[in-house]
Amino acid sequence: MLFDPNNKNLPFNPFKALVAPRPIGWLTTISDSGVINLAPYSYFQAVADNPDIVMFSAAPQLQVNEEGMQFLDTGKDSQTNAETSGEFVCNMVSMDLVNEMNESSAHHPADVSEAELIGIEMAESTHVKPPRVAAAPAAIECVVVDTYTVQHRGGKHRYTMTFGEVLGIHIKDEFVHNGRVDTAAMALVTRMGYDEYAVLEKAFSLSRPDNDPLLSGMLKSR
Ligand SMILES: Cc1cc2nc3c(=O)[nH]c(=O)nc-3n(C[C@H](O)[C@H](O)[C@H](O)COP(=O)(O)O)c2cc1C
Repeated sequence: MLFDPNNKNLPFNPFKALVAPRPIGWLTTISDSGVINLAPYSYFQAVADNPDIVMFSAAPQLQVNEEGMQFLDTGKDSQTNAETSGEFVCNMVSMDLVNEMNESSAHHPADVSEAELIGIEMAESTHVKPPRVAAAPAAIECVVVDTYTVQHRGGKHRYTMTFGEVLGIHIKDEFVHNGRVDTAAMALVTRMGYDEYAVLEKAFSLSRPDNDPLLSGMLKSR
């Protein structure tokens, strides 16, 4: 079949079920008034390394009432806070944190801290003010370096991308073996489409046919 996004010939758009799985950046930010915000973003990716850059992409605030759902002119709290404070932390989500991660996606006003509301223990970050989720297998501390409004053929998209340069990464010691991170052991939760998630539990290794970056030492930190 050929899915046509204009004719909507499937009851649900399959796009997100196919560009899958997507890692989840469980983002901590701080508002101007010091409220700690926590929310998951699956439009989240590594986009460059050395220096390492991640990005998340946010829709505007969504208002849900009797008339249905509508987007507002304001950005979601994570994006607004990242822009105003210039900092964010990407906590990685292991399977044992999936319910807390999901709960933190509920829409709350900016003065409500999801971390406090749900009772998630936070730990101080090293380089940035937003704290990290204490139980997260890894947490990436970032400083904002760029923002970009996504475009489409008709002009500006609703989504805004926020790019952050990585200043430091907390990794739970139990996942570091022989100088390498055991990603599969972290059981990271990833997002697919609809209400589906997948857990990343199995890894396999493959060498490049030429110029293998591992064998030539390119992946080693200098
Ligand atoms: C697994 C998951 C992934 C999500 N990914 C995104 C995303 O990439 N972009 C987005 O705008 N909203 C995403 N959402 C919805 C936000 O988490 C939700 O709107 C949240 O209330 C935003 O909180 P904030 O305003 O505190 O940033 C996601 C929700 C879940 C459960």
